[in-house]
Amino acid sequence: MKTINNVSLNLSQVGKEVTLYGWVSKVRNLGGLLFVDLRDRSGIVQLVIHPESEYYETATTLRNEFVIKVQGIVSERESKNKNIPTGEIEIEVSSLEILNKAHDLPFEISDHTTALEDTRLKYRYLDLRRPVLQQNLMIRHHIMASVREYLNQLDFVEVETPVLFKSSPEGARDYLVPSRVNKGKFYALPQSPQLLKQLLMIGGMERYYQIAKCFRDEDLRADRQPEFTQIDLEMSFVDQDDIMTLTEEMIKKVFKDVKNIDIQTPLLRMTYEEAINTYGSDKPDLRFDMKIQDITDVFTNTSFQVFRNVLENHGIINALVVKNKADLYSRKKLDQLTEFVKTYRVSGLAYLKYNGGEWTGSIRKVLSDEELNQIYTKLGIEENDLVLIVADQKKLVKTSLGALRLKLGKDLELIHPDDYKLLWVVDFPVFEYSEEEGRYMACHHPFTMPYEEDMDKLKTQPDVARAKAYDIVINGYEAGGGSIRIHQADIQEKMFDALGFTKESAQEKFGFFMDAFAYGTPPHGGLALGLDRLTMLLAGTDNIRDVIAFPKTASASDLMSDAPNLVDSKQLEELSIAITKKDEH
Ligand code: AMO
Repeated sequence: MKTINNVSLNLSQVGKEVTLYGWVSKVRNLGGLLFVDLRDRSGIVQLVIHPESEYYETATTLRNEFVIKVQGIVSERESKNKNIPTGEIEIEVSSLEILNKAHDLPFEISDHTTALEDTRLKYRYLDLRRPVLQQNLMIRHHIMASVREYLNQLDFVEVETPVLFKSSPEGARDYLVPSRVNKGKFYALPQSPQLLKQLLMIGGMERYYQIAKCFRDEDLRADRQPEFTQIDLEMSFVDQDDIMTLTEEMIKKVFKDVKNIDIQTPLLRMTYEEAINTYGSDKPDLRFDMKIQDITDVFTNTSFQVFRNVLENHGIINALVVKNKADLYSRKKLDQLTEFVKTYRVSGLAYLKYNGGEWTGSIRKVLSDEELNQIYTKLGIEENDLVLIVADQKKLVKTSLGALRLKLGKDLELIHPDDYKLLWVVDFPVFEYSEEEGRYMACHHPFTMPYEEDMDKLKTQPDVARAKAYDIVINGYEAGGGSIRIHQADIQEKMFDALGFTKESAQEKFGFFMDAFAYGTPPHGGLALGLDRLTMLLAGTDNIRDVIAFPKTASASDLMSDAPNLVDSKQLEELSIAITKKDEH
């Protein structure tokens, strides 16, 4: 058995005989002396083979990624390498055995590889040998270990729930699995264990957690995978504060255990409304300031036709101020920003610059002095400030300026790479209107408890009713979300009614779940953290594939195994499935 990690070797072991295993990372022939970098999971150690060694001949045949076993003596290096942990020592090889050879590689095993991601995903097992990926998987492992330790000590029970189950209510498309035994019928892979964890509360478990696989067939983005992992928990006899406090203490421990970073708790709490108004997002990135400011009032009596039209149509006028950078923004750059906001369906971007006590800019001439003075005071304008203005319907204004804010933060490097800003976003609306479906849908899911005082608004004012739902946001990512659940059948019925379910359709979809409510349901609530996203944040990557051992591409395929793939007609026959239309690609 391999008992020594390369990086455990240092000057204190000089003279000791060791047996090492690993991969050849580099071979150099320096005037007869052969130097080999031996890599294992922990890192690199240098081997030296002298020309007079009986293994010299074998050593000259070594190529990158050969797997070898060596014995040798730890010795002090003459020229030390301060860049690697074992840089003060090397191993004088006394025996060498090649355990396995390797072909020429499709790409270099290095953190600085220039290989395309598709090539790396095809040979993922080689990609995984790169130190950065090994490090990311270690971070993931440490997060899970830290979470388990924390929750176990608080009397949580880790329970596995089925993967072959019924459609769950997270709002994405399901992955379906055909049943051979029950022909024509399908399981749905869980989008989350939501119903099952609530049933565990009804089953009397009181405190549950699971590091759970979830499956959602939705459009993929840099922080989304079709198959991802949640740190999922649920508790009985708690209120919203209990869950939030417990979660932030868990995250505090994870940051400390995994990265030795101190997080100050309690975390900031911001209402959904404030997050949207001030940052144009329900997951605000607080690592830089630049708030969205409302200047609608300034234009109540404006003679500028474009703004007047917006106000007559009940729109709003909002601004971002880029402090002390107006001189960096040429006409061309501002045109690019205009094109950028237009992708968010607003009609344009107006701008003003303040330099040497003078205003210039696209709307300078159409605004009155009074309006400019009000902008100056209201926005706290100083020398060389740039004001970017969008006028349109509220939702569009907030979304476009929220996105522009993030772009400016990135472009102007306002974000310190080592900074972490965590907060809770609370008081989410119960419903959100879906343009696609043409109706109100549950913002979190249909089992989320509305505030008592908003219960009557469910049907009459669906757009103002607030829910006991909360998201934890880290550096602009939704790292997790949860809610207090409805535990009374009458409230649940009201909710289904407001969502447009008939009694029959609710019964058909969630009947088994609603039945359970009749037998003594404890008040309960919970939350799920996205393990992949948490790992991304702690690993400092913005690509979710960097923290998953075998991830899928943006088109939901696995380039290594070629899944999804065609199956034998015999298999389809057994399932009574006929393919009527094949993908042309
Ligand atoms: P929600 O749908 O908000 O809540 O998911 C919880 C967290 O899971 C992560 N997440 C994802 N990560 C990667 N790829 C995806 N496709 C993906 N979708 C979600 C996010 C998100 O915050 N059952 C509820 C939780 C509850 O109410 O207790 C749920 O699933 O980090």
